[in-house]
Amino acid sequence: MLPFIPFRSFASQEECITTDDILGPFFIEGAPNISVIAPFTEGVARMYITGTIYAKDCTSPIPNALIDVWQANYEGGYEDIDYRGKIYSDENGNYSFESIQPGKYLNGANFRPSHIHFKVTYLNNPSLVTQLYFEGDTSIDIDPWASDPEAADRIIPLATDDNQNLNGVFDIYLNVESETVGTFDYNRNDNKSCVRSIAPNPIVNEFEINFYTSKNGNVKLDICDVSGRLVKTIFEEKLEKGLHKKSFRNLGLKKGIYVIRQFQNNVSTDAKRIFVN
Ligand SMILES: [Fe+2]
Repeated sequence: MLPFIPFRSFASQEECITTDDILGPFFIEGAPNISVIAPFTEGVARMYITGTIYAKDCTSPIPNALIDVWQANYEGGYEDIDYRGKIYSDENGNYSFESIQPGKYLNGANFRPSHIHFKVTYLNNPSLVTQLYFEGDTSIDIDPWASDPEAADRIIPLATDDNQNLNGVFDIYLNVESETVGTFDYNRNDNKSCVRSIAPNPIVNEFEINFYTSKNGNVKLDICDVSGRLVKTIFEEKLEKGLHKKSFRNLGLKKGIYVIRQFQNNVSTDAKRIFVN
């Protein structure tokens, strides 16, 4: 028997690196540079996936990483134009796209679980090719790729918001040296306050938030549900302009997806999704 290993508590550097998965036959080069990849279909919920791309130190966000995503439509079929998109991570490493939950398709006698394909590339580093799965999918156990223990970090829950949209969070950790990642110049005067990193995410008991405040003043960090309702305030203090790091533990949050919202002098300045496992 293996000892019990807590889900994604990074004991050391590089343990966070996102595992790979098969490319599959449906990748097409040259997907459009769009972040709304699924056309509207009556009666099919919209799905929002957000996350941050990190270097292998598990905390340095990677700006300008190319995220190529492709997936089946709600009936499980791949299309040539729709359900594909290329997105770049922003200056804080964040990415997001809007889609629908993919349908399942047959692989031999069995359905593959609902999944989204990712190919993530930063500069000249080798691309990470992987797949994202969804918790509770009954096809995971019989799928040779999704049932691989290495895929456990890529099976995410989806939370439904007040508008019946599905929301997921998928942070991606690349095998890229943090020293090679273009970092933000905090000596500039036009930087906005932002959450730089939350690690680990998914959160177990203990986690750390790195954030930047653009001026001196009152700073507050709230945890909200996916519909924006306050769950609890986890930090409130007067801080000076600059980068800050705070650790939190045992917040007593139920498993699920939440939003960490940053305020400066009562104005909301940034928000980032977390998932509590
Ligand atoms: Fe596929």
